[in-house]
Amino acid sequence: MSRPPKVLVLFYSFSGQTRGLIHRLVDSLEEQGVIVFAERLIPREQLRFPIGSVFATLRMMLVTLFRRNMEIEPLEARCYENYDLVILAGPTWSYNPSGPVLGLLRQSGKKIFAGKVVLPLISCRGYWRVHWHGLRHLLRKCGAAVPNVIVFSHPVKEPWRTVGVFLKLAGRVPERLLGDHYPRYGHSREQLEQAFLFGRQIAEALRQEQSLKTLAFPPC
Ligand SMILES: Cc1cc2nc3c(=O)[nH]c(=O)nc-3n(C[C@H](O)[C@H](O)[C@H](O)COP(=O)(O)O)c2cc1C
Repeated sequence: MSRPPKVLVLFYSFSGQTRGLIHRLVDSLEEQGVIVFAERLIPREQLRFPIGSVFATLRMMLVTLFRRNMEIEPLEARCYENYDLVILAGPTWSYNPSGPVLGLLRQSGKKIFAGKVVLPLISCRGYWRVHWHGLRHLLRKCGAAVPNVIVFSHPVKEPWRTVGVFLKLAGRVPERLLGDHYPRYGHSREQLEQAFLFGRQIAEALRQEQSLKTLAFPPC
């Protein structure tokens, strides 16, 4: 490619985990000379992290199980330009894409994704397959090509991982309540560095005009 590759990054992050991964990925793409425009999806309905109570957390988990779309604020005009790649990143919510990502697909899916190559990035505690297959289906319906996926799971053993995420969302301190079983909520420093390395691979593939299908992004 004779000009620098152009990448659009659209992401939603409720508790900061996707945002951390995306920051490292974008740093790495930019370091490799890629032109990046990143836009955070902002839901119209205000969501607060932590959710704050056990009851409200259970309610959100139940509601999101039914793939509830959440309306988002209008996107910057630059999101509708031409890009060599669109990275669509966000958390798993009850085995599905998060409400704001579903809202984006419903509100502007065809306008943004038709004819584009889209690489989803998923941040989750560990259960991402249904999310991935559902998201790929929705993106393809919008006319996108979806050659690969990047997945990051929380690096803590079960059942502590599930209990820890639940407690964190409910506003408790799992690091204190679960002790050594739960060192921290979310992704590790090594995973952030892995996001950086994935960015290098993507930049190189774009420069060589090589399909992202050929890249290995082992789930971490
Ligand atoms: C309502 C809700 C439901 C969730 N459901 C799942 C799930 O089904 N599978 C999973 O692996 N993680 C699930 N999680 C955990 C998040 O995917 C995980 O904490 C992710 O790293 C958060 O990313 P974020 O901080 O960018 O929002 C859920 C989180 C929330 C808030």
